[in-house]
Amino acid sequence: MGPSIGRRALLLAMASTPAFARAAVTAGPDPAPASLSAAARRSVRYFGAAVRPELLEQDSSLRQLVVRDCDHLTPEIHLKWDALEPAKGQYAYGPADSLLAFAQAHGLRVRGHTLLWDRSTPEWAKRELLERRRWRLVAEHFARTMGRYGDRIGEWDVVNEPVDTEGGDAGLRLNTFHRAFGRGYVRDALIQAREIAPGARLLINDYGFEYANPVDRARREAFLRLLEELKASGAPLDGVGLQAHLDLGKGPLDARGLSAFFARLADLGLDVTVTEMDVKEDDYASSLGVRDGRVADEARRYLEIALSQPAVRGVVTWGLSDRHSWLSEGDGAGNPAPPGAAPPPLNRGLPYDDRYAPKPMYWAIRDALIGSSRAGFAYRAPRAGRVA
Ligand code: G3I
Repeated sequence: MGPSIGRRALLLAMASTPAFARAAVTAGPDPAPASLSAAARRSVRYFGAAVRPELLEQDSSLRQLVVRDCDHLTPEIHLKWDALEPAKGQYAYGPADSLLAFAQAHGLRVRGHTLLWDRSTPEWAKRELLERRRWRLVAEHFARTMGRYGDRIGEWDVVNEPVDTEGGDAGLRLNTFHRAFGRGYVRDALIQAREIAPGARLLINDYGFEYANPVDRARREAFLRLLEELKASGAPLDGVGLQAHLDLGKGPLDARGLSAFFARLADLGLDVTVTEMDVKEDDYASSLGVRDGRVADEARRYLEIALSQPAVRGVVTWGLSDRHSWLSEGDGAGNPAPPGAAPPPLNRGLPYDDRYAPKPMYWAIRDALIGSSRAGFAYRAPRAGRVA
């Protein structure tokens, strides 16, 4: 069992929420509605952010913003297999339990991120899966994780990042699960998850669909092919997560291609959630005003396309404040920093800056949410994640 910070985090959380420094946030052009979640509700959607429980514990400003702006939270790290079971049979539920307690104390929903992701599969499990090819190991991981959190998590990213059009097998990443079980592993994972939690919404989550380049185009097609295959086989798939790690270094968004992509996802009867939105900058030398304007424009352009599709039910950013972003950690691209390397520049790709002032991106998201209509859609809360 990992370090349990649950009780302390919970007490801190309960003690601190009413005192949000409203002045910082109402300083923008139109103060109402007051928060991103309130804006999202206007279009029958939700807003959320990825969080880490230790930061919620340490950082009262972050805590206040999270409670103010979010109605959903995604654990950025601590629900992943390598976080929950770093060594075989040694479980570390403390941080995830703490995050769930925080969410519960504030009436926030939690997205289950993620059951199967090659990169967050512990080395011991990868070895065992490749040597013995026993599905039971996956099934037990699902049962323990989904069983522990039961109906407190109503929506799961069952498989994360299965698509690879560059080195994969017919569009599917040649990861541990594919090598051990073949391309049917995605379907089997969904069936397994449905068996354990018949009431939970089940999603596949992936990235790299936004830009007008051959790789993103091929990834959209490969993702759609996978989804069509799954639907045709009757796999229990409710929706997809589109990560939306936007990148100013990748040229213009492919507006036409993206709109068509959203429409085809909706035609498949799938709900869509924007699950990990942020904006990677490519020019750190300009003035803050120019940089923040570019980031906000990119977020606005993306959301205008995404939110014109009624199937899009929520928007989650990968963090809330630039103070805590994976884009400013490690090598700035999701890998550990090479020894002796300078830290990456502070990226300004989230709604609040590193001192918790709302930036143009905040207003861009808020306005896009308010301006989008989802007429005819009743808010569908995740079904209670009843566990069999
Ligand atoms: O906290 C330790 C620190 O003490 C240590 O010095 C450092 C050494 O590298 O590692 C730190 O932990 C790292 C943690 O991020 C915080 O920086 C972990 O090694 C690292 O694995 C972890 O990376 C996370 C990554 O998923 C893998 O779980 C990122 O925070 C998180 O943002 C990223 O999130 C993914 C989504 O799940 C899937 N989509 C892409 C997205 C970005 O890569």
